[in-house]
Amino acid sequence: MLEQQLESIEQEAISTLDNVDDAEALETWRVANLGRSSPLMGVFDQLGQLPKEERPAIGRLANQVKQSLESKHAGKVEFLKLADLRRSLETEQLDVTLPGRNIPIGRLHPITQTLRQIYQIFAEMGFQVYQSRDVETDEYNFQLLNFPPHHPAREMQDSFYIEGEFDDENPVLLRTHTSPGQIHAMREYAEENPHDPPPIRIILPGMCYRHEQVTTRAESQFTQVEGLAVGKDITFSDLKGTLSDFNKRMFGMQVRSRFRASHFPFTEPSAEVDIECFVCGGKGCPVCKRTGWLEILGCGMVHPIVLQNGGYDPKIYTGFAFGMGPERITMLRYRVEDIRYFWANDLRFLEQF
Ligand code: PHE
Repeated sequence: MLEQQLESIEQEAISTLDNVDDAEALETWRVANLGRSSPLMGVFDQLGQLPKEERPAIGRLANQVKQSLESKHAGKVEFLKLADLRRSLETEQLDVTLPGRNIPIGRLHPITQTLRQIYQIFAEMGFQVYQSRDVETDEYNFQLLNFPPHHPAREMQDSFYIEGEFDDENPVLLRTHTSPGQIHAMREYAEENPHDPPPIRIILPGMCYRHEQVTTRAESQFTQVEGLAVGKDITFSDLKGTLSDFNKRMFGMQVRSRFRASHFPFTEPSAEVDIECFVCGGKGCPVCKRTGWLEILGCGMVHPIVLQNGGYDPKIYTGFAFGMGPERITMLRYRVEDIRYFWANDLRFLEQF
């Protein structure tokens, strides 16, 4: 009697399990067929009322049915899990072979990279970096550097003047070169000990501004690195040695330098420095315009009037100064054809460095 009941309980459970197709229905099925008040548990409850000799056989059978249903339940759990996975793979198509999205990583601007190389080379020669202001007066930018008002040498450095209630003789402007920093530095050093001012060995980097016709070779805003060495017994040989060595360290040990006579109001004598073209080795090519030489910087011995203006007695002290353009150096080294790329902020250009 109970045997048949157990058999039909099992049949019934198995056939209803076929229709179960989600986790919720499976849980309902489990409660109905294996839960506390399921017919199967009812059979277990009746075991005690059975005659002693029938108990073991029925008990064993009931346990078999229970185990069979439990294993069918576990099988169904697995099956539903796989069905779920298959469904999500089909509907939420995730292509794990697609390349990931790059996170853009910042880098140093090419001019900053060049500036840092310049600092490093001069640091090894004992030069410190001296920061000077971008906004200047006519006095510092020109007059103290031996450019009198209306001097024709000002023509080369057409300036951006700042409007305001300034002295007509001394308007405020954006510096056209880093040379006014020479005066600031000398005056600051000289103040330390006016009767015997200390020697100076500095470079002065920074942005300069000129009211230029903007072309592939000229920008209205560009950087310069000024150099200044002042002390006793500083000669033109020191200037030549320092700059020839700089050129070798910057452009290659085999590179030769050439000093050409030139003119600046604040140096005397003055020179332009060229390096042998590192593209063609001096034979002549389009980069050096077939001359074999590339112009790198301007320099000279600090003019006595400038030393005087800085607080250094020109009868006791001498010095040399130089000024170079990191944009031009970077253009030559990487063959950049247009100076405007540097400050146009186009990532397609900047990301190449
Ligand atoms: N200040 C000059 C210029 O901008 C360069 C220079 C600096 C020349 C120092 C000589 C000495 O053209």
